[in-house]
Amino acid sequence: MDAISVIRTKRDRGELTPEQIDWVIDAYTRGEVAHEQMSSLAMAIFLNGMNRQEIARWTAAMIASGERMDFSSLARPTADKHSTGGVGDKITLPLAPLVAACGAAVPQLSGRGLGHTGGTLDKLESIPGWRAHLTNAEMLDVLRTVGSVICAAGDGLAPADKKLYALRDVTGTVESIPLIASSIMSKKIAEGTGSLVLDVKVGSGAFMKHLDDARELASTMVGLGTDHGVKTVALLTDMSTPLGLTAGNALEVRESVEVLAGGGPSDVVDLTLALAREMLDAAGLKDADPAKALADGSAMDHWRRMITAQGGDPDAALPVAREQHTVTASASGVLTSLDAYAVGLAAWRLGAGRARKEDPVQAGAGIELHAKPGDQVTAGQPLLTLHTDTPEKFDYALAALDGGVEIGPSDTPFEARPVVLERIG
Ligand code: URA
Repeated sequence: MDAISVIRTKRDRGELTPEQIDWVIDAYTRGEVAHEQMSSLAMAIFLNGMNRQEIARWTAAMIASGERMDFSSLARPTADKHSTGGVGDKITLPLAPLVAACGAAVPQLSGRGLGHTGGTLDKLESIPGWRAHLTNAEMLDVLRTVGSVICAAGDGLAPADKKLYALRDVTGTVESIPLIASSIMSKKIAEGTGSLVLDVKVGSGAFMKHLDDARELASTMVGLGTDHGVKTVALLTDMSTPLGLTAGNALEVRESVEVLAGGGPSDVVDLTLALAREMLDAAGLKDADPAKALADGSAMDHWRRMITAQGGDPDAALPVAREQHTVTASASGVLTSLDAYAVGLAAWRLGAGRARKEDPVQAGAGIELHAKPGDQVTAGQPLLTLHTDTPEKFDYALAALDGGVEIGPSDTPFEARPVVLERIG
């Protein structure tokens, strides 16, 4: 077998054989296939796609490239959630302890933000002392004692995906349904969860801008999970405007704690509860009541124990950015649009995100929203507060918001989009 014949097959719109797929993934992981060859193959897949059989084999080969975790020794059923990424998407923070409080074990392997989308690990690292990197034994211990753990995936899990994802990121080959589906599902299946709920984001702030593409991605991932014995369902959820009232690391931790304390913005609470119900259902815990666990403080109790078990201080003050700048409404009327991509890009430019994987993030940077689409606003009232340690970035962030805020006459009809658009599975 050689890399050139595999590339030619896909370049010429052929179907890759199982042998070709197994060989190329294994040889790339071992370093026998060069980055430039895999980059060329990824572009051929980006342009010409893969059918369901090819995607299934590609996923299986990436799982086989590393270790598989095993949670069968736990007394509780396991349930995990994965979001395809968005702006202000802090849902994992309240969701994991909430589902643990309802009786499931939640092994939540999470990632870092890149570009305009935030990452769960970056958010939690704004809590003084909190550690993202745990050994497999430490992870199992937190799961056993607390019920939920949020941490980084170890190097042994799907190493083929680690190499390939880093390559795709710098070769313009991220936004491909076969490559995204196999990347996400290889990690989730290797992680060993018994059930999985996928939050597939749709809209300007998501990878999938259109409902049809999101549907195809969701059904491909649900099929992969089901074929590997993982009970998998997907919710397609709105990402046309940021979730909640904050985008940025420490700002989002603060909002998540408000949700755990029984408050918080209604869209964050509604999505947290919708995903919790799906996870508990998939884990066979149909009688659990997540709304009660939020109201009676048991979810908050699990959060505090989970943060403490990972070295964090749940009572410590969160970092605050050194400088703030307020954006006010340019007119009175209805806020008809507050675009998720514009807000995410602005938050990123303020320092909440990174341009390259190795860059640091500012814990306090980000954006607070003082109004949501559909709200009546008055000229001059604060709409957004921008936070950063590097005030020279304000102009650059404001440029990202250009055209992202629209205000119509106060009688403009406005139809709110539901947070959950569809369910697949
Ligand atoms: N998240 C992943 O883990 N992989 C992708 O390809 C895209 C998003």
